[in-house]
Amino acid sequence: MAILTGLYLWCALVGTLIWYYIHVPWNFPRQLPRIPLYVSLLGLWSNMGQDEIYERWLRRPLEKHGAVVIWFAGRWNVLVTRPHYLTDMFRNEDVYAKAGSQVKIPWSVIASLVGDNIINSHGTTWRLYTGIMKPGMQKREFDTKPMLRKSRRLVDLFIEKQNAVAEDEETGIEDGVFVNGLVQKWAIDVMGESFLDYDFQCLEKPHVRVEELQTIIKKTLFKPLYFNFPTLDKYPYVFTSRRRAFAIMKEFEDLLYHTVRTNPRKYEQENRELQDKQVVHMLEEALDSGKINDKQFRSNIKIMFLTAHENVQQLVNSTFWELGKNQDVQNRLRQEILDTQTDTPTAELVNGMPYLTSTIFELLRLYPPVSQLINRVTLQPTVLGGDICIPAHTWVGWNAYGVHINRDVWGPTAQEFRPERWGTKPEENQAKFRRETVRGAYIPFNAHTRKCLGQGFALLEMKVMLFELLRRVKWNIHPDYHLKLTSGGILAPLGCKVVFQEVSDDAELN
Ligand code: HEM
Repeated sequence: MAILTGLYLWCALVGTLIWYYIHVPWNFPRQLPRIPLYVSLLGLWSNMGQDEIYERWLRRPLEKHGAVVIWFAGRWNVLVTRPHYLTDMFRNEDVYAKAGSQVKIPWSVIASLVGDNIINSHGTTWRLYTGIMKPGMQKREFDTKPMLRKSRRLVDLFIEKQNAVAEDEETGIEDGVFVNGLVQKWAIDVMGESFLDYDFQCLEKPHVRVEELQTIIKKTLFKPLYFNFPTLDKYPYVFTSRRRAFAIMKEFEDLLYHTVRTNPRKYEQENRELQDKQVVHMLEEALDSGKINDKQFRSNIKIMFLTAHENVQQLVNSTFWELGKNQDVQNRLRQEILDTQTDTPTAELVNGMPYLTSTIFELLRLYPPVSQLINRVTLQPTVLGGDICIPAHTWVGWNAYGVHINRDVWGPTAQEFRPERWGTKPEENQAKFRRETVRGAYIPFNAHTRKCLGQGFALLEMKVMLFELLRRVKWNIHPDYHLKLTSGGILAPLGCKVVFQEVSDDAELN
């Protein structure tokens, strides 16, 4: 009897603790639908992509109510997709304050990776970081030489790889190339040369450790169990894979720090113009003068490394998929590029190419790399968009994919890839980009107060790379490849495999 009573009490205690951990707080907005907890945990037993999960469980409630309550990172949050709510949130950062994992889950693996940095900080600290780094990210003119040189090298390597893979004797189908590996190396090299004044030479050398670490880090971060229950990160001695994860993050930080700090400052040696100063020089000066401390320096160098390569990398992967299956767009874009009759894409040239610009805007609409983020917290009770009462200390986030594919926002063709919706002239492209961003309908780079500081650079990098790629190669999706998008984190096709053919070969791909 005593044993039974003890067991009963123990079960009751465990049940209460679980209920306490996963119950929706009583003061959460009651008019919003609650997405069942298991939807956030699907990654534990299924490999459904973000698009499939969105379609099945999120689309209807979000399109009807504009916001839902959803479990993420160990708590309930409000997730928003209605443009007018998004605009309210993005305009009022004093109420919906940025607060990344360093605030939300400071003990976690992800917090140890990103620290307190320009993207996830708020208020005075954010202003301090922005004051230091912004001029290095928003230059009047970016040097396009590194992006062009690295893009040429990337295309050389694609051609080399394609030539090395054999044709299947039975089917006559050539084997293809998995693009992601080389795209990652390219993205890191361009980022390094443009912001850290360092050529990592990932495209030139085998086994560059900092690049190898990225592959491990990306796999480690998006493990659904730890993503949804970050409390487990408090116990690295129980979960040994988390102990390894912490060690990897530390190795990455130390290696990057050492690389950057021992790199001779070319900018000072060569007495170059202010325009040539890069983000790393600005951060080093701030460190030397005591404006920031060593920890802040490390966090901001790491976030530059991560954010300035990964989003572009994944957008390029999406480009391979979309233009590989959409040959009409690929051909039309190639024609625009070949019509320029040059092999040297300057910034002025590519910015004046409407179809190139429209294609990239459209890629960012259907494949926003940062598809969802929940990294803001309400500093006071508030009423979102005049409709939804949200208590103080509630985590609020947004889903870009959701707003971008909503037919009420983008019309009946919302889910179709149609670059022409962005207009036919560069001025039209820019005007629509601005209009849709301001009204909260187009948010691949976020909007208003905390919009991406690297968007101009990222668009230029994409344009230069696509110019070089399409000028020299055609590609088809390999028949064995079937689209699977990532199940969480950065949105992109997984393992895309394509078959390349040199444009000069003149033969048509089947
Ligand atoms: C296709 C490429 C890119 C995409 C889709 C993208 C997207 C975004 C998004 C959605 C945010 C807002 C994040 C948030 O709300 O927490 C953001 C912020 C930011 N991005 Fe990007 N980004 C890209 C490339 C870059 C590059 C190349 C750089 C570096 C030059 C960069 C630097 C930043 C910075 C510093 C912020 C923080 C701005 C602030 O809070 O003041 N991004 N980006």
